[in-house]
Amino acid sequence: MDNSRKYLLNFKGYNFERTLVDMKILEKLDDFEIRDDDVFVITYPKSGTIWTQQILSLIYFEGHRNRTEKWDTLDRVPFLEYNIRKVDIENRPSPRLFSSHLPYYLAPKSLKNNKAKIIYVYRNPKDVLISFFHFSNMVVRFEASNTLENFMEKFLDGKVMGILWFDHIRGWYEHKNDFNILFMMYEDMKKDLRSSILKISSFLEKELSEEEVDAIVRQATFENMKFIPQANYNNNRQNGKKYNSILSNEIGRRHNEGAFLRKGAVGDWKHHMTVEQSERFDRIFQEEMKDFPLKFIWDLNDDEANSNHSAK
Ligand code: PPS
Repeated sequence: MDNSRKYLLNFKGYNFERTLVDMKILEKLDDFEIRDDDVFVITYPKSGTIWTQQILSLIYFEGHRNRTEKWDTLDRVPFLEYNIRKVDIENRPSPRLFSSHLPYYLAPKSLKNNKAKIIYVYRNPKDVLISFFHFSNMVVRFEASNTLENFMEKFLDGKVMGILWFDHIRGWYEHKNDFNILFMMYEDMKKDLRSSILKISSFLEKELSEEEVDAIVRQATFENMKFIPQANYNNNRQNGKKYNSILSNEIGRRHNEGAFLRKGAVGDWKHHMTVEQSERFDRIFQEEMKDFPLKFIWDLNDDEANSNHSAK
């Protein structure tokens, strides 16, 4: 049975999570006023959003770097389309940092031909699929799937929060000249976090000392983020008081197993997909992404020759 309408609200061809979205925000998105110094992290879900939110928070806020402030990355870099914590984004002092899963065609009009910066992070879609499958089964506001097969069907049909993965990345890439955008690959960040942080800070025109870069790298590794409650949506204690993260509060868990920072690995799909599923995915990938110039890395052991457009 197709339950997707219970969880998803389709607005202009894009599926929003029904209970988290506010129609008033959606209707005003087009005219949302962008400032020249706004910065956006744009991703397809499960592609490295929280990771980049953490990196931006560390780059921009000394108090985040030296851990004297306890802001969640989600409040530092709130979602434009899901203002879950009701942050007053319009009156925020500059530079404002935002996250978004929006496709290019739903971005505010004034983001086009603007100096505002966008970091688009993409990840190989087999790992996105697996991460999305686990996440949807963990939280109550998403439709659970009994089997990976069942979820894969929805993913390849675009019946998950968002749109088809292929359309999201293609849309942003093919319209890249309309925006001030940097494309970052999750797998490159994984391979060389320091260089990736330097690339991001150079794009943002933020000069950082060696010590600052060291502190950012240290606090942006998967292993360390696991222990930083502000950057992993785990419940924690602050000033002696129990503090529930967005996962327990605003989104809600189905059970206590699993974490938002689940594995943070490249190639985990190999442990979940059958050979048949993987080959079926490859055929669709090759069809949808032919002539697409960005490379993808499916496994960190891949050599360069294998890491281009073809799924494997
Ligand atoms: S969401 O729900 O769209 O905001 O999710 P998103 O943050 O985009 O993606 C979650 C996945 O990113 C992994 N992650 C990381 N990987 C490597 N290094 C770091 N530091 C890191 N931080 C988050 C997270 O573990 C999710 O991937 P999976 O494969 O499920 O572990």
